[in-house]
Amino acid sequence: MPGSPSGPFSTAFTKLVGVSHPVALAPMGGVVESDLAAAVGNAGGYPIMPFSWSGQDVIEAELTSLRAKTKAHFAVNLCLAMPQDARLELCLSHKPNAVHFFWGDAAPYVRHVHAHGALVIQTVSDSEEAGRAVAAGVDVLVAQGWEAGGHVRGTVATLPLIPAVVDVAGSVPVLAAGGISDGRGLAAALCLGASGVVMGTRFLATPESAAHKEYVAQLIAADHGDTLIETDLYNVGWPNAQHRVLRNALAERWLAEGRPDNRSRHRADDAIAQRGGVNIGTYQSTTPHREMTGEIEAMSMWAGQSVGLVRQVEPAGSIVARVMDEARTILSLR
Ligand SMILES: Cc1cc2nc3c(=O)[nH]c(=O)nc-3n(C[C@H](O)[C@H](O)[C@H](O)COP(=O)(O)O)c2cc1C
Repeated sequence: MPGSPSGPFSTAFTKLVGVSHPVALAPMGGVVESDLAAAVGNAGGYPIMPFSWSGQDVIEAELTSLRAKTKAHFAVNLCLAMPQDARLELCLSHKPNAVHFFWGDAAPYVRHVHAHGALVIQTVSDSEEAGRAVAAGVDVLVAQGWEAGGHVRGTVATLPLIPAVVDVAGSVPVLAAGGISDGRGLAAALCLGASGVVMGTRFLATPESAAHKEYVAQLIAADHGDTLIETDLYNVGWPNAQHRVLRNALAERWLAEGRPDNRSRHRADDAIAQRGGVNIGTYQSTTPHREMTGEIEAMSMWAGQSVGLVRQVEPAGSIVARVMDEARTILSLR
């Protein structure tokens, strides 16, 4: 059960959203489902459910299931690179604590989301975008640094980004995303002025995550230098969007051949994996899910540089507890 949002670790963020710990589960399209979200919520963290590509039936089922597994407050996440109006309405009907927008301006949605009693969270990647979001009435900023896994909008690393965003945020809480896998990262983010952290890559290697076991094995084997950030690699389905993934043989070949375009690259027209009878093409922007079969290692295995700190599969609740313990010790908050 989530505890009190007050206590030694209360921050502007925990007080605003009503959770015990300043640790949010990053929305990770394709692999954050209700089991993982509930585990983080039940450990006192703040789950953010990704629905940018989900059908209405999936949103309905996942939110119903999440409510049955936890009483924790949670947010839903929608990527503004594609139309989201229908998904937004369905999500709002489930009364989330907040709606988290990514890859675009939340401004047109602020009044509507507030009218439904939910908070608005927006991911930003520089101080200018942060200033616009604050002026538009956004309630929480997620500052995503360049180290982050998955799609990454900006070019500034977390260490310089957080204080710059905090400086323009005023009383709006800022969460740090990108490069954070343990309590040292949480302590550092708090020292930079953040009110909490958003952790993605670390939570992929948990028994509750829906990530494919081969993907998890690759994450555990990887070091911090084993990721690549590119725009035109896994660009099928979501073009012109910078993304950070694990290096694999397919990526190495594409780089060695001088980043050939979509039509002329190796295995451009092949299907490399399947799920439920649906083919997944080479270079498709798709997170490897445990129900997929095929060449998982050739898929877009999104990962942040924080992957170097991921050494084992660990229950999500233990990760939250350990991150809190480590940060408390570092900050002498016992
Ligand atoms: C597998 C994966 C999928 C992601 N999908 C989304 C998404 O659907 N929406 C979103 O806002 N961010 C998404 N992200 C980015 C995360 O929200 C977050 O910014 C990132 O994981 C933080 O960096 P870290 O991985 O080093 O913790 C994704 C990241 C990963 C690793």
